[in-house]
Amino acid sequence: MSDAASGYERVAADFLAARGNVAGRGMGVAEVRAWARSLPPGAAVLDLGSGSGLPLTKLLVDAGLAVHGVDASPTLVEAFRRNLPGVPVACEAVEDSRFFGRRFDAVMAWGLWFLLPAAVQRALPGRVADVLLPGGRLLFTAPAEEGSWTDVLTALESRSLGAAAYRQALAEAGLAMLREYEDEGQNHYYEARLAPE
Ligand SMILES: C[S@@+](CC[C@H](N)C(=O)[O-])C[C@H]1O[C@@H](n2cnc3c(N)ncnc32)[C@H](O)[C@@H]1O
Repeated sequence: MSDAASGYERVAADFLAARGNVAGRGMGVAEVRAWARSLPPGAAVLDLGSGSGLPLTKLLVDAGLAVHGVDASPTLVEAFRRNLPGVPVACEAVEDSRFFGRRFDAVMAWGLWFLLPAAVQRALPGRVADVLLPGGRLLFTAPAEEGSWTDVLTALESRSLGAAAYRQALAEAGLAMLREYEDEGQNHYYEARLAPE
């Protein structure tokens, strides 16, 4: 069966048990909380590959941000709706999504980018730039090293284009890199900003 969620629909129960059922702790919590605090109060944030909404989307909501989620796994979107009632979420692949037909102050994609085919990864900064308001911010994770590996849960191939290629794709989309850093689990973060008008 084809899985628009890069294999995550098939392993949704395992993913929920491993990460998506607990609020307030897990990989990325400290970094995303700090990023959320750096955004203007009430900023509109699009969370790409939002999973069950736990733990990360909930942090954004609890920080007072106006969040919309997008995820291609029907099972994880159902969990998102249970965990964050009233928070808009679209069950769509980021490749095809209209991103609610509106623009946002910020976009986050934690643990998604490197699941996507290389061509989609190269095109995504342009899609993100199109939905960001002037001066809008992007946060995403992907390894700094170029290479491919097998996702432990899905057993499908993931691939990183490497930091140099991500920097280039962001620059071509008009997104200026603000900073890069790693968390204690060696997740590599890219923070970028669209030029103000
Ligand atoms: C590693 S999980 C991360 C989920 C969440 N961001 C978190 O931090 O817990 C990757 C998520 O991306 C979703 N996903 C994978 N490929 C996708 C695609 N092409 N479009 C939208 N969502 C996708 C999966 O369903 C899954 O929820």
